[in-house]
Amino acid sequence: ADEGMWLPHLLGQQVYNDMVKRGLKLSKEQLYSINKSSIKDAIIIFGGGCTGEIVSKEGLIFTNHHCGYGAIAAASTVEHNYLQNGFYARSKNEEIPAAGLSVQFLLKIEDVTKEVEDQLKGLSGDARLQKQTEVLNAVNARLADPSKSIEARTYSMFKGNQFIAYIYQRFKDVRLVGNPPESIGKYGGDTDNWEWPRHTGDFSIFRVYTAPGGAPADYSVNNVPMTPKYSLPVSIKGLNDGDYSMIYGYPGGTNRYETSYGVKLSTDINNPSLVALRDVRLKAMFEDMKKDPAIKLKLASSYASIANYWKFFDGETKQLLKHDVFGQKQKAEAAFTAWAQGKPEFQNVFADYARIYDKWRPYAKQRQYLTEGILGSPLANTASAFAQFEMALNNPNVDKQKVTDAAQKARTAFLDAENQNSDRKILAATLMMYYHDIDKAQHPAGFFEDLQTRYGSLDEEQTYKKYAAYVFDNTFLLDDAKWKAFIANPTAAALQADPAYQYAATFVRNYSAKYQPLYASFMNQNNELGRLYLKGVMEMEKAKVRYPDANFSMRVSYGNVKSYTPRDALFCDYVCTMNGVLEKYVPGDYEFNLPANLLELARKKDYGQYIDKKRNDLVVCFITTNDITGGNSGSPVINGKGELIGLAFDGNYEALSHKMAFDKDLNRTICVDVRYVLWCIDKLGGATNIINELNLVK
Ligand code: ARG
Repeated sequence: ADEGMWLPHLLGQQVYNDMVKRGLKLSKEQLYSINKSSIKDAIIIFGGGCTGEIVSKEGLIFTNHHCGYGAIAAASTVEHNYLQNGFYARSKNEEIPAAGLSVQFLLKIEDVTKEVEDQLKGLSGDARLQKQTEVLNAVNARLADPSKSIEARTYSMFKGNQFIAYIYQRFKDVRLVGNPPESIGKYGGDTDNWEWPRHTGDFSIFRVYTAPGGAPADYSVNNVPMTPKYSLPVSIKGLNDGDYSMIYGYPGGTNRYETSYGVKLSTDINNPSLVALRDVRLKAMFEDMKKDPAIKLKLASSYASIANYWKFFDGETKQLLKHDVFGQKQKAEAAFTAWAQGKPEFQNVFADYARIYDKWRPYAKQRQYLTEGILGSPLANTASAFAQFEMALNNPNVDKQKVTDAAQKARTAFLDAENQNSDRKILAATLMMYYHDIDKAQHPAGFFEDLQTRYGSLDEEQTYKKYAAYVFDNTFLLDDAKWKAFIANPTAAALQADPAYQYAATFVRNYSAKYQPLYASFMNQNNELGRLYLKGVMEMEKAKVRYPDANFSMRVSYGNVKSYTPRDALFCDYVCTMNGVLEKYVPGDYEFNLPANLLELARKKDYGQYIDKKRNDLVVCFITTNDITGGNSGSPVINGKGELIGLAFDGNYEALSHKMAFDKDLNRTICVDVRYVLWCIDKLGGATNIINELNLVK
């Protein structure tokens, strides 16, 4: 089946045989081995939430443009705007260190279920969860070796029914080697995001460096390009409908055993709240980004991530409703409950689910409005983090110098990313939404009464704007003189007197006092019920081969390149071409502009060795049936012979319910064709130095 994010070290015979039937030509050992180098050695965690792959003997990395986005924006200035104009290093000297960026290589995977379970015997509920955290920390510490930058993270699989330790080595000297202009790397912008057909060149190129000898090291001019254990060959032979496709990477999270209750909470409350709040935040940011390239560079990365999941959650709601995932889940739950009758461990699972959801539901909106609304203002968000400084300052034994250093750092990071004009609007607008949309009984005591007394009617936008002006004009976070005075003599009282701090603290305290404990207890019980549900399901259907939910541990997914029918009467081809790039072109547009040299070469059909002979065109993107999710971004798409044919970068709109239910007919992964990537590097970028490093299969 196309569904499944498999553990690469535990590919059962049934799954492996199915891979072979679909077109895989490699042995299990070539896919994953701990003794010999194998494909898994070329797959890395890129930064905090993406995948990358090694494509040369000198540590060259391919990943998505949207994964390198933050590093590219950080390397850019208005004068040297690599985000806008693209960048290719002609030699290693020109590569740009990406401070703060690291990559992780997987050394091995170990099943530690028995070790963990032995220590959890007889425990349940909160006690079990607490003990579990302790035990996992101890396992991770035992497997780590900080002197070699080796870290371990143990993942709970099947909701706490299995425990697997992943052991990584982290490398911190990572350098930007190249990226296309944003008009290629993010072509189609948010309009085309999460949709097929898609015409985006979503790639960027980095290199990992080590100390001479190969050990991980912080950035140094003396470091050398890594000699990797394995690097992927790159095929420019092209692809056909039905070809085998395999994707390795780090899917961040799925919840395929989400209950009908969880589905309904998402569609009724959580998703619509998030979407409405992000909508106003994005509008405020975009107005300023459009006007000023410096603001655009400042906000680009944060805007992109807010927008990405704004559209995701809107689409998820629509697809969950359209496919009646709620109804599907209810059916499965009824079958489970029938099976569970007379089995004390399982028979009350769904009655208990109903009870815990009834208890939490009235406060779910409060939580979304705090995290996505009130704290959606960067000023409020930064101020809220100052709660830790308040606590420290209240402690007579604390080293004040340490506290002020940390506070200085937090302020500097905030100012680097702050655009006041949009932030003021965000604070005012989200506060007004909170006032109107949240049950009055849940408001912080006295806050809105006071607001009304000082600034006017709570139904008027002006009231909130005036209050926002007061906060922004008076906070020490935005005033150097006030900040200096605070830092010279930092006290908890001075912190409490700051209007931005007061604002954030009022809403955070209201939440932590009344709702956070309810949420924590809801989540603990939810986890415990989830573990029981899955344990029961595995007993009920013993023979079924299962994969655990995604949790940012390495997985492999296999499927095929494949066309599809997104809705009645519409056929979607498995590839799209430069022809379509040109069709979408809108000169000067924010999302659909194109670089002059692309237009010139495309009009001449100057595609060199990258041309698709069948179509007499350049293939730009393609789709596969692979089961992936966020975190897989940048993942290699590998053919039956183990060669790189593309980079996965998105999922399609019709299957945006994929976190909670895989749709076997509609699910597609959207990939940029590696021939388009190489054409951009070679023909548009002139960076033959990069092409020459690759192991090309022609
Ligand atoms: N939807 C993609 C993902 O989450 C990210 C695409 C980035 N591009 C964009 N236009 N925001 O994997």
